[in-house]
Order: sequence, then structure tokens, then C-alpha cells
Amino acid sequence: MSIILGIDTSCDDTAAAIVENDKKVLSNIVSNQTGIHKKYGGIVPELASRRHIEMVWPVVDEALKAASIELVDLFGVAICHGPGLIGSLLVGCSFAKAICYSRGIPLVAVNHLEGHIFSSFLEEPRPSFPFLALIVSGGHTCLYRVDGFGRYRELGRTRDDAAGEAYDKVSKLLGLGYPGGPLIEKFAQDGNPRAIDFPRAYLPESFDFSFSGLKTAVLNFVKKSVSSQQSNPPLPPFNSPLSKGGHRGVKGGHGWITNSELSTLNSKLIEDIAASFQASIIDVLARKTEWAIKKEGVKRVVLIGGVAANNELRKRIREMGDERKAEIFIPSTSLCTDNAAMIAAAGYHHLEAGDIAGLDLNPKAYMML
Ligand code: KG4
Ligand code: ZN
Repeated sequence: MSIILGIDTSCDDTAAAIVENDKKVLSNIVSNQTGIHKKYGGIVPELASRRHIEMVWPVVDEALKAASIELVDLFGVAICHGPGLIGSLLVGCSFAKAICYSRGIPLVAVNHLEGHIFSSFLEEPRPSFPFLALIVSGGHTCLYRVDGFGRYRELGRTRDDAAGEAYDKVSKLLGLGYPGGPLIEKFAQDGNPRAIDFPRAYLPESFDFSFSGLKTAVLNFVKKSVSSQQSNPPLPPFNSPLSKGGHRGVKGGHGWITNSELSTLNSKLIEDIAASFQASIIDVLARKTEWAIKKEGVKRVVLIGGVAANNELRKRIREMGDERKAEIFIPSTSLCTDNAAMIAAAGYHHLEAGDIAGLDLNPKAYMML
């Protein structure tokens, strides 16, 4: 039995978890920085790394206490060493190295994307190899064929924006707030997904994705609507039932459309834009995954990453799986978004393989799986 401490500080969440082997989560603590970055409409890297410095020990301490584990009980430490924000990664890596050096225990280096893949091992039923992994997050959108630990073949990736990035940018341009994914999902619930025919970039003969054209199409649609909606009644004020916890009318200033222009759009239109935008993203993700099942002849799909927390996407991938008679594995939302349990789970396999990192380990902002 191996008790592993996982740590992830790759972006704006300080995360630590204690996991037994690659399956039993004893604790999983995430301290998010949304409150710090919200007012800037996106992550400010320098602020993120400073916050990690403040939070990394309290979060690790909380993970140990919640699991009733002492540092002496640890078999090893798994650290996410990239890809991600370099300043943020440095904090976690330095901290993990210090624990390993002081306790004389092994350090293992885990690629963040590999971590997302192994989040699917933390709940029953677990997928068996081979399987397809659709990773949809704020930094990545890619499709892998996974034949075993360390045997990952990339089938496709985004050529521009990641799906989560598109959610965040569209939310910002609609003045809804940050992070955009959950807010767009909320507004989309009452919208008509067929109201606006936004483009779907299927990129034939390729498993690559592209979402930047969709974002531009939303921007152009909003600009056009703003000029034709001037006579419509203004939005209800913030905190009214229709505001749904977003920040409409409070924050804006992204330079494309002013707040007063945005306030001329009625709430129903915003809901329809959110629903139609979401439908376009989900159609492309589901269709590409369906093609991959056919082409690779693999009837097992794992859906992971922050965007996999989206209920419509989860539902759609499950429906597609039923039609194709494919098994679908989607972890609970707390394991889809960034967490350190997934890093520990992948780290277990590195430890088993004897793939130990040196204390001269350097994080990398960009790295392939
Ligand atoms: O995996 P993750 O937590 O961090 C990265 O590795 O990027 O993913 C964060 C992304 C953000 O872009 C966020 O807007 C998106 O996941 N996200 C969602 C939802 N919850 C988070 N996107 C759509 N619907 C959601 N419910
Ligand atoms: Zn992630």
C-alpha cells in the first residue's frame, strides 16, 4: 500500500491530496483564487504565484490532517511539473522537493494532462485500457488514445483556443464574469440552443479542434445585436433573480463592447447566445469523439478537465456513448476540475515504474504528454 501526497499549483488553484495507490482518495483539498482574479476578468500570473506561496503549506497541512496522515507515513510525493504558469509551477515544485529532501522519500514528476487522464481511476467503475480520453479544460482541448500507463497517442488538439478558454472569453465579452464556464452554463439553462446558428468547426479528416472562429462569431453577433436592440428594455439590475450570480452590468471594459452597450441587450437574448454558443462547443466535442470511437475501434471514452463539469456536455457524451454502445467514464465534477488527487494517482504509476525525479527537477510551462 502506497500513500502518496499529490500537489498541483499549475494554474490558479493550490491543490493537495492524499491518495492510496491510484484509487482511494483519503483527502482532496483545493484552495481556489477566483476572488483574487475575478476583478481582472482572468488569471494574473504574478498574483497566482504569490498566492500559491501563501497557501501551499496550509493546503498540504489540511490534506494531511483530513486524511489522518503524518509526513512520516508518506511513501512519496507526486508533483505536477507542467504544463502551466511557470511561476505557479515553481512554487509547488520547490515545496515538493523540500518535503522529499527532508523526509528522504521519492519525488515523482507528473504532467498535468496525464493527471487529468488518471482522475478517471479514482472512482468506480474504472476504465480498462485501451480508452479514448477527451481532455477539455481552460488550457487544453485534446483527444488521446490511451493504451496503458505511459502509452498515450495524441489524436487531435485545439489549433487555437481551448474549449474552457472560449467559455471564459465569451463570458467576458457578454459581461457575465469569471470563470466563464459555470456562468455560461447557468445562463444557457434558460436559453434556446437553436436560437442562433453559430459555426461549428469540424475540420474534416482531422481530430483537431478550433474554437476561435466561434468566439469571433459570438462577438460579431453581439455587436450587431447591440446596435439593433437600443430600443429594448434595459437589463434587470444585478442581484435580481435574472442575474444568476453573474456580474452583468457591474464589470466590463474588455474594450470590444462597452457596458452601456451591453446593457441594451435583453436577458432573453443573453440566455439564447449562451445556449447557442454552448451547443456549438458540445456538438463539435461529441461529434469528434464519436468519429474517434469509429476510427480507432475503441469503445471506451473518458471525459475529463474543467469543462467536463458541464452538465450538458456530460449528458451529451453519455447519450452518444449509448448510441455507439461505448462505455463512458466521467468523474465527479470535483475530480474533473483541477485537483491534486489526479496527480497522486498518476504519480503512483511513475513510482511503480521506478520513474523517480531528481531534486534538480525543473518545471516547464510548455510540455507534451
Ligand atoms: O481543468 P481546469 O480546472 O483548469 C485547467 O487545467 O485549465 O479547467 C478550467 C476551465 C475554465 O476555463 C472554466 O471556465 C471551465 O474549465 N469550466 C467549465 C465549467 N466549469 C469549469 N466550462 C463549462 N461548464 C462548466 N460547468
Ligand atoms: Zn487542468
